[in-house]
Parts: sequence; C-alpha cells; structure tokens
Amino acid sequence: MLQPSLPIGVFDSGLGGLTVARALSDHLPNESIWYVGDTKRCPYGPRKQVEVRSFARQVGKWLAKHDIKLMVIACNTATAAAFYTLQKELPVPVIGVIEPGARAACMASRSRKIGVLATQGTVASNSYAQALHFLDASVEVTQCAAPRFVQTVEEELAHGGHMHQDWKHNPEIFDTPEVYAMVREDCAPLLNKGIDTVVLGCTHFPLLSAQIKAVLGDDVCIVDPAEETAREVKETLKRRGILAASSDAVRGVHAEPTYRFATTSDDITSFAVAGKFVFGHDLDSIEHIELSELETL
Ligand code: DGL
Repeated sequence: MLQPSLPIGVFDSGLGGLTVARALSDHLPNESIWYVGDTKRCPYGPRKQVEVRSFARQVGKWLAKHDIKLMVIACNTATAAAFYTLQKELPVPVIGVIEPGARAACMASRSRKIGVLATQGTVASNSYAQALHFLDASVEVTQCAAPRFVQTVEEELAHGGHMHQDWKHNPEIFDTPEVYAMVREDCAPLLNKGIDTVVLGCTHFPLLSAQIKAVLGDDVCIVDPAEETAREVKETLKRRGILAASSDAVRGVHAEPTYRFATTSDDITSFAVAGKFVFGHDLDSIEHIELSELETL
C-alpha cells in the first residue's frame, strides 16, 4: 500500500530537472520530494537510447528502493528512452514530462503548428511528435535539436557562482550577445512557419526562456512541460487517494514536507549552489551516490 506521507521521487540527468521539482513544490506544497540528479553522467542528450534507458532503470530502481509513492522522470531524454520500461518495471506510478508537455502545447496552439526544442536524443526518438499527433492528428510539428543550449546552461551553472540568485528572477544572467546569437541560429528552423507554440522539451531550456521568447516573438506561446507535469502528478495522487495534504487532513496530522537530494556528482558544494539557483530554495540535505552502487541495480 502506497502511503500519502511517502515522498515523490524525481530524477534527471543532472540539475535541470530541479525546474520540474520546483513546479512540483509550487503546485503541491505538502508533498515531500526525493530528487536524484545523475550529474556525473550528464548530459544524456547525445547518448544512445539504449544507454540512457539503462541509466534511467538504475536511478528508477534506486529511488523505488527508497520508498516513494510516485516517480517523475523529469528528464525529457530519459522519458523518451525509458518511460514505458519504467512504467512496466517499477512498483509505483511513473509520470514523464513529454506527454504533459505535448498536451499543454496542443491546448495552447491555435495555428496547430507547433515547434519542439529538445536534445538530440529526444528529437531522434520522435517522442514529442508522436505524443502531439496522438492528441491532435492535424498538428504540424517542427523539431529542433539545440544541444548548445544545454552546454550554455551547464557552463553557467558550473562557473557562474550564482549563490544568491534565482533563474526565475534573474533572467538577465543569460542576456549576452553570444547567447542571443546561439538562440537565433538554433531556433532558425522555427521561424516564418506560422508556429504559434513552442515546447521547451529539455529541462535546461526554461532557464533560457526569456531569450528564446525574445527571438521567437511575443506572440509565440512558450510551453514549459514542468507546469503541466505538476498538474498531472497532483491529479494522479488525488485520484489514487495518496495526496499528502488531503490524507493528513483526514487524520488531523500535518507533517512538514521534506526535500532530499542525491547526486552522482563528486562535488556536492557545486551541486548545492547551482541547485539553489534552479530550485529556488536551499538544498539542505544532499547525499552522494556512487555510480558503482547504481550499476549493480
Ligand atoms: N535533462 C535533459 C533533458 O531534459 C537535458 C540535459 C541532458 O542532455 O542530459 O532532455
């Protein structure tokens, strides 16, 4: 029996998935979260699907061993490679980010011309196009791989030292001529096609959403799958009767949510600094996971 007080497990190839964990904590303030960032093996985007699938299985099993009630694959590349595998293999409900992102985009688009910005792995899998066509067979999808966006965000996270900043409140951090030139170049296939909605199909891209919006134009709707994913998680927990708040209220107990983090990175201090910049709160409890431990799972 899954208990309402158990945490939600969330995993990503690194820190970017904290954008999803953040949306979860905003929408579900009573829920505890156990977040794993496989930072040492990041990026997943350029890797083969079979390798990403095996990493996702390892992290998924690790989280499932730690008593979670639901798992969110916050990483788009891992969702593309391992969503169905993890759904079949794990003993808890599994939610990915692609289907919610596609749904939000379909709902927002009036022209039915939708752009997808993602990693090479996600684009190659065609998962967003399939999810979009499943929801609306008439949509025209243009997919763009933008691996340089991941690199740019990673470099900023690693060296920016944004100890007291927050990407949501400091979008100007990425306001440089180099970033604009890169965004203009990589988004070129999305221009002049009547596209009115673009899905940010990679955890890192919301950090560049101000720059992406400036290039694509104000009338293009930018969809961050994190928000819709958080709504789906809420609805799933509610329907299964395992939403923390409602169950606690029934019992008259109110437990404070706890946030725990684990990473395969050897540098916990950098994970904490960059993590706070992405998550918006201190990462108080961080533990290290040895890759050798994951590889035995
Ligand atoms: N987390 C990945 C995603 O959302 C981006 C970073 C990576 O390539 O690992 O696709």
